[in-house]
Amino acid sequence: MQLPNLKEAKKRTREEVPVEEYKIPDHLKTFGKGKTYFIKTYGCQMNEHDSENMKAMLESMGYIEGDSMEQADLILLNTCAIRENAHNKVFGMVGRVKHLKETKEVVFGICGCMAQEEVVVEELLKKHKCIDLIFGTHNIHELPILLEKVRNSEKPIVEVKSIEGAIVENVPAKRDSNYKAWVNIMYGCDKFCTYCIVPYTRGKQRSRKPENILKEVRDLKQKGYLEVTLLGQNVNAYGKDLNMDYNMANLLKDVAEMGIPRIRFVTSHPWDFTDEMIDVIAKYENIMPYIHLPLQSGSSKILKLMGRRYTKESYLELFHKIKTKIPNASITTDIIVGFPGETEEDFEETLDVVRTCQYDSAFTFIFSPRKGTPAEKMKDEVHYREKERRLQELNALVNEYAKKANDKYLNKIVPVLVEGYSEKDSSMLMGYTDTMKLVNAKADPSNIGKIIDVKITDVKTWSMDGEISK
Ligand code: SAH
Ligand code: SF4
Ligand code: F3S
Repeated sequence: MQLPNLKEAKKRTREEVPVEEYKIPDHLKTFGKGKTYFIKTYGCQMNEHDSENMKAMLESMGYIEGDSMEQADLILLNTCAIRENAHNKVFGMVGRVKHLKETKEVVFGICGCMAQEEVVVEELLKKHKCIDLIFGTHNIHELPILLEKVRNSEKPIVEVKSIEGAIVENVPAKRDSNYKAWVNIMYGCDKFCTYCIVPYTRGKQRSRKPENILKEVRDLKQKGYLEVTLLGQNVNAYGKDLNMDYNMANLLKDVAEMGIPRIRFVTSHPWDFTDEMIDVIAKYENIMPYIHLPLQSGSSKILKLMGRRYTKESYLELFHKIKTKIPNASITTDIIVGFPGETEEDFEETLDVVRTCQYDSAFTFIFSPRKGTPAEKMKDEVHYREKERRLQELNALVNEYAKKANDKYLNKIVPVLVEGYSEKDSSMLMGYTDTMKLVNAKADPSNIGKIIDVKITDVKTWSMDGEISK
């Protein structure tokens, strides 16, 4: 049994991380024959993509994907630890699987970021005897071997590494979309914002080698993918840990020159956003004019307590620089309210930045203390009800600007990558603009998987309606 340890996870070594190739042992290639699996994914795009990898690994063992948890022989919960409510959702689900296990035989595993937290693993092992397997974010590629261990063991298998190992290349992926693909460019995060659990659950920053990223993008292009999103917790810091003179601006340029029609990247920390990057984004038409630029707070005092390493002023300067060089850019953000020590004046500063930046949209959160992070121990005197009030006020403002940003699209013709049928109305198709606006469009299904011009006919806060432009 290998249990997680947050203190160990904080230790950073400077050596370059080795690279290994994924390989499934031959004797496991029929292990899952005749069985179905079901993976429930929580959290961010990293987790979404990790689940795509796990699905492909399981299918290379002979498993097939089931439509529901109830019919599966193997259930995996790929968990997120970012806020308390993410935890609660998973614990609710564990209860459901427990009931299910009383009626049928099923292998039940928990992986992802919650599995990296010792308090969580202790609780799971103590209270939930229904769990057969717990593994973390550093050994996802060992899933086939771990499942074999589960079969051969009476006790649950717990293998969570606190220190990251090699970067594993060539892990297969069963991608959710035939047109859009996630491409990891780096793993982990070294920023240690004081509220955030990610540097502990995902380990130190490890950039993939440029040639491996470019090879993956080339393969995707050959397979007909139209869009890639370069993924990392802090993509602007890409390459800093590689012993070579190569950075995010270089990578964006090299990916753009491969000619894949749409390139996106998430997430950009304002601190590492260089002029060189802005110039590359402005220059290449296939790098989408969409930037997620988390603010977190508009108060320089709170930003300092958060360890964000920028101020209100330097953030605004960067924001305006981006808007000047990329005038059509849509910019979105993340904001936390109720961070320890946030006064009414600090909150007003956040509203002030929102009024200035008029974001296209924003994800907003109430601060959630995470065990083991510095902010957990900071003195927090603001009542939760007051935090909820701040969130509501912020959301009202964010929504106002989101609608205003969308209003500009009315009667305009915009390029949309059509992904499939609209969820709310199956006679319509849905897709996203270059600026990441959700569009429901009247168009022939033959347009699915194409980038088409759509005329916007109606605008709402979170989506737009349109029709194919003739
Ligand atoms: N790497 C990204 C953030 C990933 S987490 C970045 O630095 O921008 C996504 C968002 O969750 C963060 O931007 C932050 O707004 C929010 N978040 C992270 N930890 C949180 C916490 N403890 N409480 C509330 N919100 C949190
Ligand atoms: Fe968390 Fe900060 Fe790293 Fe983002 S940059 S993942 S908020 S520590
Ligand atoms: Fe959650 Fe882990 Fe992503 S904590 S937000 S799944 S990196």
